[in-house]
Amino acid sequence: MSKSDDDDKANKMWGGRFSAPPAEIMQEINASIGFDKVLAPQDIRGSKAHAAMLAEQGIISKADARDIVKGLAQVLDEIESGTFKFSRALEDVHMNVESRLREIVGPAAGRLHTARSRNDQVALDFRLYIRDRLDEFDGALASLLRELAAKAETHAAVVMPGFTHLQPAQPVTFGHHLMAYVEMFARDRSRFADARKRLNECPLGAAALAGTSFPIDRHMTAAALGFDRPTANSLDSVSDRDFVLETLAAATICAVHLSRFAEEIVLWMTPQFGFIRLSDGLTTGSSIMPQKRNPDAAELSRAKVGRIAGAFQSLVIVMKGLPLAYSKDMQEDKEVTLDALSSFALAVTAMTRMVEDMTPNDANMRAAAGRGYSTATDLADWLVRELKLPFRDAHHVTGSIVKEAERQGIDLEQLPLAAMQGIEPRISKEVYSVLSVENSVKSRVSHGGTAPQNVRKMARSWLKRLEKAGKSG
Ligand code: ARG
Repeated sequence: MSKSDDDDKANKMWGGRFSAPPAEIMQEINASIGFDKVLAPQDIRGSKAHAAMLAEQGIISKADARDIVKGLAQVLDEIESGTFKFSRALEDVHMNVESRLREIVGPAAGRLHTARSRNDQVALDFRLYIRDRLDEFDGALASLLRELAAKAETHAAVVMPGFTHLQPAQPVTFGHHLMAYVEMFARDRSRFADARKRLNECPLGAAALAGTSFPIDRHMTAAALGFDRPTANSLDSVSDRDFVLETLAAATICAVHLSRFAEEIVLWMTPQFGFIRLSDGLTTGSSIMPQKRNPDAAELSRAKVGRIAGAFQSLVIVMKGLPLAYSKDMQEDKEVTLDALSSFALAVTAMTRMVEDMTPNDANMRAAAGRGYSTATDLADWLVRELKLPFRDAHHVTGSIVKEAERQGIDLEQLPLAAMQGIEPRISKEVYSVLSVENSVKSRVSHGGTAPQNVRKMARSWLKRLEKAGKSG
């Protein structure tokens, strides 16, 4: 019986110990190349740094290192141009790259794996990959923050209803509402930055689990790959995936924020709210109902959190109870994470485009802001300020006035003074100055309050901060 090419390859790495190739099911459950091939650029970056260090330390010859580095560049070219043939029998990205390197440079390729194991190799590759994505997210969130703050500045004085329990509560401004998300996404951005700081130690050189007897220079590879320092414990280096968990946790929290905002876009787009409009390019129509304009991008952004939170949950369960050091279970970190991070990137970009695109309908927002007796608190505050009523009594008096307005089917502003005086005789006509939604928002000048002047100031200070960060970073 002749052996297939794949069978030969399957034995190359540990063929000395094995005399039979893996069973079909062994290959099927074991192979990760179907998804870890996206780590090829990071794998090659790491191998180049490792080869250069081995040569510098006299562990391999300079000539071998040169051949290896040149060969790796060719492998990367082939992968990027799509001519590289990935083989499932070679299990994962590390062995696919090394096997092709051997075809290109010959036996020198076999020296690359000196003082290294796939365990520290995969820990390195995934760290580099996650770090690249964290940097991408940082830029994406900066753009989202910029769009939000710019929109907020433009619409700092547009009055809309503020809700609690999704019932009209007190008037706020559209700018203020958008600035709330600036705060949330800025915290998300700083969570990613924290994760990056802790992630930024290099596991390369931990080898299988115990370190190595070769005189390697881990500081050199760490510096070459942009890490702050090498990791301090070889067992920890190959056995934890907390840098992935932390990234997924931060992405989950941010996706929750995106989801809440997306839900508001969906609500605001309904004719019942009619608060905003999105353009043709960011909405979809219906194949049967000609009148429809659907906020699909917002709905999908709202939904992506499912996969992202799911990935976090999935990896937590994979890691739970795993003894040190490496176990193959950890290969299950990739598929869900890759999917989650791509979904996350999509949602951030889609939301950023929608913020840029949305136009508020000022008239609808203002009309809705006045409904539901939303300035009742302003009336109660007036009673406290002008008539020196204790707030609890003012609350009670205002409640009776709202009841009377409701009975007459009119807004607070329209209620005749006599009707108010029937409830509290000391009320004067000055009370009407606090009953309009414009005056209500204007009066909320406390730190962090919704007054347009506050909103404008905050939006401008954020824009300045983001501009500065953009220039330095
Ligand atoms: N594909 C493997 C992973 O993703 C690489 C590490 C394999 N290590 C091993 N000892 N079999 O985890």
